[in-house]
Amino acid sequence: MAANFRTAHVTSATSPLFAQLTLSGDKSVSIRRALFSLFTTDTIRLTNYGSGEDCQTALLCLRSLGKHVEHEGNRVTISHREMPKQATLDCRNSGTTARLLMGLLAGRVGEWTLVGDESLSRRPMERVATPLRAMGAEIELADGGCLPARIVGRTLTGTDHDLKISSAQVKSALLLAGLSANGVTRVREPIASRDHTERLLGLTQAPDGFWSVHQSIQTVAVVSLRGKIPGDISSAAFWAVAGLLVPGSDISIENVVLNPTRTGWLTCLKNAGANVNARFERETSGEPVGTLQIRYGKFSPLHVYASEVPGLIDEIPALAVLAAMIDGESRFEQVGELRVKESDRLQAITNGLTAMGAKVEILGDDLIVHGGAKLRGATIDPQKDHRIAMSFALAGLVASGKTVIQDADCAAVSYPEFFAQLSKLVTDSLTLTE
Ligand code: S3P
Repeated sequence: MAANFRTAHVTSATSPLFAQLTLSGDKSVSIRRALFSLFTTDTIRLTNYGSGEDCQTALLCLRSLGKHVEHEGNRVTISHREMPKQATLDCRNSGTTARLLMGLLAGRVGEWTLVGDESLSRRPMERVATPLRAMGAEIELADGGCLPARIVGRTLTGTDHDLKISSAQVKSALLLAGLSANGVTRVREPIASRDHTERLLGLTQAPDGFWSVHQSIQTVAVVSLRGKIPGDISSAAFWAVAGLLVPGSDISIENVVLNPTRTGWLTCLKNAGANVNARFERETSGEPVGTLQIRYGKFSPLHVYASEVPGLIDEIPALAVLAAMIDGESRFEQVGELRVKESDRLQAITNGLTAMGAKVEILGDDLIVHGGAKLRGATIDPQKDHRIAMSFALAGLVASGKTVIQDADCAAVSYPEFFAQLSKLVTDSLTLTE
């Protein structure tokens, strides 16, 4: 979806935010359900498919892999066509698409080239390629272990992977490769990352922490692809932060994914005494779904322990902005993974908050925000990183003067509607220009 603006100009919010929102389908769940169509010749119908560019990227790759994809509004129909024997797949900004496809294609007959945009072409791919090679995959990466990746499909052998980092993308790639490997593939990670892949495949975790897959699981996957995709909990986090920043706000968000591997930010805010509540309502295709309620109120500084990081990795930019407004020291431990996201988020958070007058430190891999200083408006270059752009737009709502978010349209990577929705809620405080 092309945005008709480029720059966002934000001034301090003059009234509370009152909203009842529903969100487009969760990005992680949408991309997985779409890509898993590669395991079936059945037609897959998805509703409330994510509107973000990353979700469109997954569909683009499916088309390049021969699938017939119809996309109308939030409905997507994916039907089977014969798969080509070679293809170049443009994964644009989507790390999830690229890494999952590496696992998915490593064991399929054919020659595949994965390319990405400037940001994705800087991100580490060796973390996926190395364990895949241990299964027999033939994968060649560009210098520095980045995209483009050239994959020649090979017969894979089931292998045990005891991962050193917790990454849902790596874990998922290996489990997906395991579906086309001979024998059993087992994957364990140090701390649980999001488990949407495991849920879609109907896996259960062994007492020793390993997830295992083998070829016959493929039929199970198809059944779980159907059904309405619940709203994106990472998009919801921006509204939670907005509601906790602007005095008097009261926001509810319906039909959101409440998967416990994604709700770490809610737990963090609750632990600090913030008025945020999640009400579980139902389970949809293996994902818990419910309503979030956020009410403005005072709370303590945030403390994120290393063991909690995978459960809120994408929400740290927004939480850091919030931390800057809370009196006292907030600490985010062991968040080094932020350096290899769509931008170096550790640096982007520090640069942005410092420019706005907050005191922020990076100590090793820890991020420390000394909150309570009044923020002042600044010009923010989000480095085309959607979550940085949205987070600093929220900072602008509580800063003096004007905050200018350059390339704010990059929000479309995960949340194309964000700035339009924000502008409805804070009419006087947001102007969008070319
Ligand atoms: C994702 C996993 C996370 C997350 C990303 C989406 C996924 O990345 O940051 O936005 O859908 O599996 P890592 O696996 O690199 O931690």
